[in-house]
Amino acid sequence: MALFASSTRDVPVTSVVPRHVAIIMDGNGRWARKRLLPRFAGHHRGVETVRATVKTCLERGIEFLTIFAFSSENWRRPQEEVSLLMQLFVKALKDEVSKLHRNGVRLRVVGDLSRFEPELQALIRSSEERTADNKRLILTVAANYGGRWDILQAVNRMLLSEPGKNGEWTESDMAPHLAMSYAPEPDLFIRTGGEQRISNFLLWQLAYSEFYFTDLLWPEFDATAFDAALASFQQRERRFGRTSEQLLGDSPATTAAATSRRIDA
Ligand code: IPE
Ligand code: IPE
Ligand code: MG
Repeated sequence: MALFASSTRDVPVTSVVPRHVAIIMDGNGRWARKRLLPRFAGHHRGVETVRATVKTCLERGIEFLTIFAFSSENWRRPQEEVSLLMQLFVKALKDEVSKLHRNGVRLRVVGDLSRFEPELQALIRSSEERTADNKRLILTVAANYGGRWDILQAVNRMLLSEPGKNGEWTESDMAPHLAMSYAPEPDLFIRTGGEQRISNFLLWQLAYSEFYFTDLLWPEFDATAFDAALASFQQRERRFGRTSEQLLGDSPATTAAATSRRIDA
């Protein structure tokens, strides 16, 4: 039994403040280049933006924040940049986990971690264990993550289980194997840095997320910019396949009914 509703099978319960925000933190390199600094200075600065973003999530009551830190395609970058990014990841974990823990934040890391150095893998495990009981905010860092990798690893694990009814596997058989099965699907997807693409982030989970793109570079994305994204989210009409008229006609009672109604049963 999946922990959270699937947006394609059930109409999810929606709220004014998104429960789950997923962010592609892009533009660090350009931020640095504009200042004639090495690209790494932008990544360094980007960690500060992560800190501020976590703070805003805590203040606004957002329950899940997922950030794309390193994609499965980012290994294609110059070896020096990859190596500096790995060192920065280690440093950020060492520096930030105590503060996250004090603030009730649970840290989780998703992605194919087997390619990381043993030291980094151990640090990830210990940070996750240390914060495992925290419930105020679940901060997920996607590292060596790819949406296709996620779908494939879920399919491979699902195929080891017994198929559901009629000998066929269903969405509900697959859902528990996805890397983020512990979280509802993102309500709001944000990408900074001006590009308007998914870059192999959460392909399955973004099925019904609201998209928000900004030209601001990640180090420039402050609380005001985040609030602008949240304000935009509040203007959206989330129809999940239905018509506006249906939404207007929804009394709280019928909304609840729609929530429990299976669409594709
Ligand atoms: C995003 O910033 C951070 C990572 C991918 C690690 P970029 O490094 O992609 O910055 P730009 O897009 O080159 O400016
Ligand atoms: C996406 O940014 C990955 C992360 C932010 C970690 P990229 O800068 O790598 O994306 P592309 O290659 O421009 O699509
Ligand atoms: Mg980029």
